[in-house]
Amino acid sequence: MKLFTKKSDYQHYNLGQNRLGLVPTMGNLHQGHLNLVTESLKENDKTLVTIFVNPKQFGPNEDFSKYPRTLEDDLSALKGLTNSENILVFAPESTQEIYPPGFNTEISVHGLDQTMCGEHRPGHFQGVTTVVYQLFVTSKAHVAYFGQKDYQQFKIIEKMVKDLQLPISLKMVPIAREPSGLALSSRNQYLSNQQKNEAIILFNTLNELAKTYLKDPSESESLRQKYLMSSRSWQYLEIRDAETLRIPDKNTFKVVVAGAYFMGDTRLIDNVILKVRD
Ligand code: PAF
Repeated sequence: MKLFTKKSDYQHYNLGQNRLGLVPTMGNLHQGHLNLVTESLKENDKTLVTIFVNPKQFGPNEDFSKYPRTLEDDLSALKGLTNSENILVFAPESTQEIYPPGFNTEISVHGLDQTMCGEHRPGHFQGVTTVVYQLFVTSKAHVAYFGQKDYQQFKIIEKMVKDLQLPISLKMVPIAREPSGLALSSRNQYLSNQQKNEAIILFNTLNELAKTYLKDPSESESLRQKYLMSSRSWQYLEIRDAETLRIPDKNTFKVVVAGAYFMGDTRLIDNVILKVRD
């Protein structure tokens, strides 16, 4: 395994003819991230894992400063994977490696950010696309792997790749869950054991809504409203067309049922994807 802390060192590294997979992360790696890396190791000669807590995607009152930074543990977890000799890691030693002084460019993908997380985290997705664009260009990867948990993020990056005709393909990997069903997240470590048990309400509610949608979409809408009104912990709970992220209509063949729920100060997100017709 090879570690780069400077962008220029990575750029001077000779990849040769190797096919490269990219796994962008903010570190604090859990099984969900390791699944992405494992998938990439299977499908590519080399895998670049980037570890960078991107300040541009955090709002002023969000957890940028307390976000867990665990580089040593992350490197050990990666070393423990089969074929870890094919892993390259880029963990910038400073923010300036990504955003040099005077950096003043933003990538915005309009439309898909008007709902769900985008509606509640202004500027978040611009921060994501701005860093991901740079990682795509710097890495020269052939394919990039993202988790389904950040479904809206995936759709927005997919649109950026399409609109800018970036020479990279994308793969979405299913959500890794605890045995209880709770989606794995670096933010789960902010939760007490009791909160972890209670947080399963998020996944259970999404499943309940999905089941009801399949039976009767209008009933699922009343149920959605009922859940939203039942607790102030819901930041959003949405049933959307999985492609457009708009309200489903007669052209919809897949929906995403997605929610953001606060357990104390910790914001958790999750989603379920549902095929509604062929
Ligand atoms: O999904 C994440 O961890 C981040 O949003 C990403 C894609 C690494 C960009 O900072």
